[in-house]
Amino acid sequence: MDIATRAVPPSQQYELAFSHGRADESPPPPPPPPPPPSSEPTSTAFLHGRATLHLADCFAWLKACQPRSIQAVVTDPPYGVHEFQAVQMQKLRHSGGGVWRSPTQLNGHRRAAVPRFTVLTAADHHALRKFYEEFGQLIASVVVPGANIIVAAQPLLSHLVAAALAASGLELRGSIIRQITTLRGGDRPKGAEREFCDVSVMPRANWEPWLAFRAPLDGRVQDNLRRWGTGGFRRSSAERPFSDLIESSPAQRAERAIAPHPCLKPQAFLREVVRAVLPLGTGLVLDPFAGSGSTLAAANAIGYRSVGIEHDPIYFEMAGAAIPALEKLT
Ligand SMILES: C[S@@+](CC[C@H](N)C(=O)[O-])C[C@H]1O[C@@H](n2cnc3c(N)ncnc32)[C@H](O)[C@@H]1O
Repeated sequence: MDIATRAVPPSQQYELAFSHGRADESPPPPPPPPPPPSSEPTSTAFLHGRATLHLADCFAWLKACQPRSIQAVVTDPPYGVHEFQAVQMQKLRHSGGGVWRSPTQLNGHRRAAVPRFTVLTAADHHALRKFYEEFGQLIASVVVPGANIIVAAQPLLSHLVAAALAASGLELRGSIIRQITTLRGGDRPKGAEREFCDVSVMPRANWEPWLAFRAPLDGRVQDNLRRWGTGGFRRSSAERPFSDLIESSPAQRAERAIAPHPCLKPQAFLREVVRAVLPLGTGLVLDPFAGSGSTLAAANAIGYRSVGIEHDPIYFEMAGAAIPALEKLT
């Protein structure tokens, strides 16, 4: 693919989260400047198997990407945008607090740090919509007709993400439900647990939506499949179509040891989704928010070509080590 690697200076990589909102539409106040990262990255691109990972801002990378050069997208973006902002990453990595709930002990188990989306403000929601509108427009320009675009979402925010992506011309084709029991919801009212011991503030979350979009077709599905190799989902088998309900579990201990990213997604789930997004089993899969490289590892395990973008040098380095190890897991 004819795309120059766009190395983003570390000083800019932390300012991206809200930089996609428009200045004339009440943007939220700018965050305090982050401290400089401790070390410069040694490389801006990593290749392993059929996967390439770039250290870059995906918005800049997508702007430079050749139009109609991507056959599918599978990605797990920052749900709230906010949580991967520099100041929030600082809190996650050092001081605690902020949008990341600190790891706590629950029934003897250490809970992972997860973002708290209930602390997002109206201005954050506005920034989120702007972020996904720009993202949708860029994605719409780089994918081929009929491409599947699968975007991990979050029950409290998926309506905003779906509306913004649909506004960019992508067609909403439903959601893939990752059936997973999480530690979200189910809690009694904070500070009054005994008084209201029979009350949960929110239902315990048992699923995660992965929004399924399709780029508009070029003719009928069969025409699109012949011309572009896209326009449907690869069946799980001759008897079984790809299903929009996938039973899942959290990433296994071995996966978390390889890739200690706070949002690591399990290989079993990703391999099922990644396999399905290329109906004829050929093409290039993009993950613009690659994190620890789990989507690229899944693509390698299946034998698909893939390209990923990650703007955080620490996660980029993590992915470099994790992709070869994750793809080997059985
Ligand atoms: C939810 S995580 C993805 C985790 C991934 N699913 C995994 O299993 O490791 C989102 C990732 O997107 C990255 N990110 C956020 N904004 C970005 C941007 N503008 N360009 C590239 N990467 C970005 C964050 O640093 C984070 O690692």
